[in-house]
Amino acid sequence: MVDGAELQRRLGQLALISEVPAPVVTRVLFSEADLRGRAYVRRAAADAGLTVREDAVGNLFARWEGAEPSLPAVGTGSHTDAIPNAGLYDGVVGVLGGFEALAALRRSGFRPRRSLEVVMFTAEEPTRFGLGCLGSRLMAGSLTPEKARAMRDREGRSLDELRAAAGFRGALESVRLPSGCFHAFVELHIEQGPILEKEGIPIGIVEHIAGPSSYRVTLHGDGGHAGAVLMPVRHDASLAAAEIALAVERAATTSGSADTVGTTGVFRIEPGAVNSVPYRACLEIDLRDTRMDTRGKAYDGIRNAADEICARRGIRMEFDEINADPPASGDPGTIAIAEDVCASLGLASKRLVSRAYHDSLFMARICPTTMIFIPCRNGWSHRPEEYATPAHIAAGTAVLAHTLARLAS
Ligand code: GLV
Ligand code: MN
Ligand code: MN
Repeated sequence: MVDGAELQRRLGQLALISEVPAPVVTRVLFSEADLRGRAYVRRAAADAGLTVREDAVGNLFARWEGAEPSLPAVGTGSHTDAIPNAGLYDGVVGVLGGFEALAALRRSGFRPRRSLEVVMFTAEEPTRFGLGCLGSRLMAGSLTPEKARAMRDREGRSLDELRAAAGFRGALESVRLPSGCFHAFVELHIEQGPILEKEGIPIGIVEHIAGPSSYRVTLHGDGGHAGAVLMPVRHDASLAAAEIALAVERAATTSGSADTVGTTGVFRIEPGAVNSVPYRACLEIDLRDTRMDTRGKAYDGIRNAADEICARRGIRMEFDEINADPPASGDPGTIAIAEDVCASLGLASKRLVSRAYHDSLFMARICPTTMIFIPCRNGWSHRPEEYATPAHIAAGTAVLAHTLARLAS
């Protein structure tokens, strides 16, 4: 019943809305491409016969009213923002797949008792403000409006300024959802890991989402002429940064858990001239784990190493936590329904841990939640080579449609 060809056509169209030439996708929050992407999603929602509402931070809700509209709705959806140099499936499959799932249900003659809503969340990716899942955090009350108002991007622009320029006004307080707003939430997404492809299994059902944390480290050294400042008197901020990045790797590999991962994905030095000693370095560190104890141990290792490195090198350090979120668990009842749907469709499924975070990490704090994963080539994601087959996308969308139908009946 899913129109896989139509879904592919739409994925291809949205992929062309990018800050950079195809096939690379970059759609950073409130960039011109993000705004055009949002316009595309609004039109796609209307084409699917859905009623659109957008909140003060730009989260979009596309609703199919159920026979009993006062009942909590059943939600699905994901994000369409994309990190620099991304592919075209991360997040987008869950938004456009959500529209196709609802369209397929409508074509089949299904009439929901509970309303069904596709949500496109604002800024699942942390590119602009350093903090991921901005929209879903605010919805779940996991980010206070005060903290959101204090955020600045690299150019010093505030969330309030940028959202107003994008046409999203109103108090950030209004973004938080009342408790009991959703009966359940199911997000369709590519796995972003290698397990399903390797094992030849078309559907993964998410049991746990690892807990992400991230930190911003600013190192203040002393600059000068690269020829004139002799080595014994240097306070080179970039070398302290390099040592800290290595300490991140060491802490993640010695935490005692194979699930601890640590990445220093942002590394900026100033003034960035070949003949000048770097006087400042700015790092952003991403540290995740399925377990809080081993993530905490890795964090302590990084913090202690950074203190020691900076003391030894005569560097002043600011070490700020951006976020430190606990992991989330999928809802057993919703997982069981998705598994049952797979069995009835003759599709093998496997329970998985999501090592990437998703808006579902925050939806799980306010309603029963799970995710449906589909295989992606080589487990690749966050790179232009990201790829999922049309057949897997259509199968995931079918599982989503039947799961939503069961939840909404
Ligand atoms: C989400 O994109 C993540 O970084 O896990
Ligand atoms: Mn992503
Ligand atoms: Mn994603």
